[in-house]
Amino acid sequence: MSQPKYFIIDFDSTFTQTEALDILAEISLRNHENKDNTIAKIKKITEGGMDGSMSFRESLQRRLDLLEAHQDDLTELIERLKEVVSPSFKRNTGFIKKYRDEVFIVSNGFKEFIVPIVKDYGVKEENVYANEFEYNDAGRITGFNKDNVLSENNGKPRQIEKLKLDGEVFVLGDGYTDFEIKKEGFANKFYAFTENVKRDNVLRKADHEAPMLEEFLFMQKLERAHSYPKNRIKVLILEHIHQDAINRLTKEGYQVAFRPVGMTEEELIEAISDVSILGIRSKTQVTEKVIENAKRLLAVGAFCIGTNQINLEAALKKGVAVFNAPFSNTRSVVELAIAEIILLMRNLPDKIFDIHRGKWTKSASGSFEIRGKTLGIVGYGKIGSQLSTLAETAGLNVRYFDLEDKLALGNATACASLDSLLETSDIISLHVDGRPENEGMIGETEFAKMKKGVIFINLSRGHVVNVEALVQNIKSGKIHGAGVDVFPEEPLSNSHPFKSPLLGLRNTILTPHIGGSTLEAQENIADFVPGKIIDYINSGSTTNSVNFPNITLPALSRAHRFIHIHKNEPGILAEISNILAKYGINIIGQYLKTNEVIGYVITDIDKNYPEKVVKDLRKIEGTIKFRVLY
Ligand code: NAI
Repeated sequence: MSQPKYFIIDFDSTFTQTEALDILAEISLRNHENKDNTIAKIKKITEGGMDGSMSFRESLQRRLDLLEAHQDDLTELIERLKEVVSPSFKRNTGFIKKYRDEVFIVSNGFKEFIVPIVKDYGVKEENVYANEFEYNDAGRITGFNKDNVLSENNGKPRQIEKLKLDGEVFVLGDGYTDFEIKKEGFANKFYAFTENVKRDNVLRKADHEAPMLEEFLFMQKLERAHSYPKNRIKVLILEHIHQDAINRLTKEGYQVAFRPVGMTEEELIEAISDVSILGIRSKTQVTEKVIENAKRLLAVGAFCIGTNQINLEAALKKGVAVFNAPFSNTRSVVELAIAEIILLMRNLPDKIFDIHRGKWTKSASGSFEIRGKTLGIVGYGKIGSQLSTLAETAGLNVRYFDLEDKLALGNATACASLDSLLETSDIISLHVDGRPENEGMIGETEFAKMKKGVIFINLSRGHVVNVEALVQNIKSGKIHGAGVDVFPEEPLSNSHPFKSPLLGLRNTILTPHIGGSTLEAQENIADFVPGKIIDYINSGSTTNSVNFPNITLPALSRAHRFIHIHKNEPGILAEISNILAKYGINIIGQYLKTNEVIGYVITDIDKNYPEKVVKDLRKIEGTIKFRVLY
C-alpha cells in the first residue's frame, strides 16, 4: 500500500504574495514620522531572516519592536491579505479541500492573521502551525509566545518533528526556513515556490522549482486547475517584438526566452526542440526542417501581417497553429493614405522641397481642397473599407472596386468594373492584396483611362503597378501627384541603398514601406497575437489562425476537453466516436472542422473518465497531436 502524503505549505510570500509583517508595518506606522525609514528597516530584517543570514528569533524580535502594532491593526491587515492570496492558490482550492487532513500551513508568521485567510480556502484551523502574538493591557503587540517552537531558530523542522507525520512529507515554500525542514531530515522533498519571490540561495537547495502551485501538483500527480502547468510551456521570442507581448506571455505564466535578433535556420533548428510557442517577425524563416525538429511546438505567432516566412503547410501537417496580426496596422495605413491625399492635392511635396532650398513659391496654382472630390479605392478589404469611412468624413465622395461583392460602407458606391472607377476618380488609391495575378494590374492601359490631373497612391504591394508606366505618366503631367510606399524591389535593410526610377520626380511622395509602421500598430500586434495564442493554448480556439480550420470555442467549465488533431483521412472521426462510446463517456459538446490537410475535433466530456481513453485516443492511426485541457 502506498504511504500517505503530507503537504507542508508556507504562508508569507507563498500562500500570499507578500510578507504580512511588511503590510502590518504600513498599517501600524501609517502616522509615524519616520515611517519610510522604519519600513525599509523591517523589510531588510525580514529578508535577513528569510535568506538565512540572520537568526530567525533575532529577526522576529527586532521587527516587532519596530512595528509598534496594535491588536486593532489586525482587522485591516486581514482584509489586505485577502486581496493578495497568490493567484495559483486561488485557482487550486480544489486540491486543498480534497486534502484537508493532509495539508498543513507551517509558518513563522502569526496565527492571528493566517487562520482567517487560509480557512476560506479549506485549510483546517488545527492544521495551521504558526506563532502567536503577545499584547499588553492596552492591546499593543509587544512580543510573541516564546514557548511556541516556531519562534525558535530552526523552528519549522522542530514543529514537523513534533507532528510525527507517518508518511511522505513534501514542503512548498519560498524561504530558507522551509528548506530547513528537508535539511533536518523531516521532509522527502523541498519545492522552492517562486511565484512571488525567487531567492537564489533557496533555489539552489531545492529539489525542484515550483513557479506556481500547479507545478507542485503536477509533480505530485494531484488535482489541479490546469491540465498542464503553464510554467512548463516554453516560449521563444525573436526579432525585437514589442515588450508588451513579452509581458503578456510572461504574465500568463509561461517561461519566456527573448532574443532581439532573428535566428538562422541552423540556430532555430537547435533552439526549437523544447519550445511550445515561437514568436517571430518577418525575418526568421520557419522552414520545414525547423518544424520537423520542433517536438513540442503548439503555435507560431507571426508578429506582423505576412506569413510567407513560415512554411504553413509543414506547420499544419505537424499540428502547429499559426497566428498573425491581419488588422493591427490597418488604421495606420489609412491615416497615411489620407495624409498623402491632402499633401498631393496641395502640391506640397514640391513646395516643401523648394522652401528647404530657400525658394519661396507662394501660389494657389495646382493646389486643391479634397472636399467634394471623388476617391476611387481599388480593393475594398480591411484597409480599403476603413479608408472609405474616414475619407467620407473628410468630404470625399467614395467609389470602390473589389473582385468580391463587398458591403458599401456609409455613402460609398461600388463600381461595376475597374475601368469605371479609373475613368471617374480624381484620386485613385490601391489597396489590393499581393496575389500573383495582381502583378502589373495598373499599367499604361489603366493610366490611359484615368482622368487628367489624377492623384495616384499605392500603399499596397510594389509589383501591382508598372513603375515605368507610372514614371511616364507623372512626367507627362497626366498624374498630378503620386504617393508610393511599396516597390517591386525593396532594400533588405536600412543599410542597403534604395534605387528606383521614381526618384526625384515632381509632386511625388516616396516612403520606405512604412504605411503600417507606427508604435500604435506595434502595440496592437503585441496585444493581438499573444491573445490568440493564449486562447488557443487555453481553450483550443483557432479564431483567425492562418493555417488551421477556424473554430471559436466556448470557455471550458466543469468539463475536460479532448483536442484531437489528425490527418484528414476517412474513418478517424468514426474511430474517435467508437472509443468514446466504448468507455461510455458522457459527451457535453463536440466541435469539428477540417481542411484539406487536417481534421480538428474537440470533445468536451464529463470530468470522470478512465485514463485509458486518453491512451486509446492517442493511439489512433493518423493522430498528429492530442491534448487534454481543463
Ligand atoms: P485585405 O485582404 O483585407 O483586402 C484586399 C482586398 O483586395 C480584398 O477585398 C480583395 O478581394 C481585393 N482584391 C484583390 N485583388 C483585387 C483586384 N485585382 N481588383 C480588385 N480588388 C482586389 O488586405 P488589407 O489588409 O486591406 O491590405 C491591403 C494591401 O495593403 C495588401 O496588399 C497589404 O500587403 C498592404 N499593406 C501595406 C502596408 C504598408 O506598410 N504599406 C501595411 C499593411 C498592408
